[in-house]
Amino acid sequence: GNLKPLAGLKLMLTAGPTREALDPVRFLSNHSSGKMGFALAEAAVQLGASVTLVSGPVALSTPSGVKRIDVESATQMQAAVMEDIDEQHIFIACAAVADYAPKVIAEHKIKKTSSDTLIIELVKNPDIVAGVAALENKPFTVGFAAETQDLEIYARDKLSRKNLDMIAANNVALAGQGFNSDNNALSVFWPNGQQALTLAPKHELAHHLLTLIADRYYDSH
Ligand code: PMT
Repeated sequence: GNLKPLAGLKLMLTAGPTREALDPVRFLSNHSSGKMGFALAEAAVQLGASVTLVSGPVALSTPSGVKRIDVESATQMQAAVMEDIDEQHIFIACAAVADYAPKVIAEHKIKKTSSDTLIIELVKNPDIVAGVAALENKPFTVGFAAETQDLEIYARDKLSRKNLDMIAANNVALAGQGFNSDNNALSVFWPNGQQALTLAPKHELAHHLLTLIADRYYDSH
């Protein structure tokens, strides 16, 4: 087979969590380590792509040959993505983006009061991958789906609702895969097909997923 199926292609990825500030010292976030997205970035370089990685706060070093842009919030992640998206042939959204952010970021540290409850109002964040897929000249757009049940139903719903070309679903309720694990398993869906990528180290899985993406990309171009 072709050793560099992504040669000549520009590929952008998002990876890691986002942090949504509550006040100067606190935030809402999740357990994404960035491992899956960074493995994809590294593998994409090896397969010949020119890679831009937009990353939330993670403790990983930048894979060699990758252009990395660090961000914190979903809003910042979207701005970094949109800045360079027109150039891209392929976009992969692997980041675990917060769906909601605090409506107001308190200017000073929120004080403990005598009340036993504290209510924080949240507002919906922009959906980054749906925004990319809505562009007139959209790149080949791949989403992820982190689910704890009914994987295929929810993944196919996200595929069509967000107008994606492909979606990679993982079950994040199982031990030894998903968030922060070194291994993962993916069920990949596209409009007319699907493929299961069984449990494997994330770097191995990344090669399989990118090979599948290259196949589908060239089927549609
Ligand atoms: O980082 P690791 O520790 O290696 O873990 C990997 C992972 C479990 C985080 C990864 O494999 C994964 O599933 N990433 C997607 C997590 C997620 O937020 O899934 P979701 O089903 O909530 O979102 C669906 C898709 O929409 C995703 O492509 C997501 O990036 C995108 N999205 C979601 C919300 C938003 N505001 N903007 C987005 O672009």
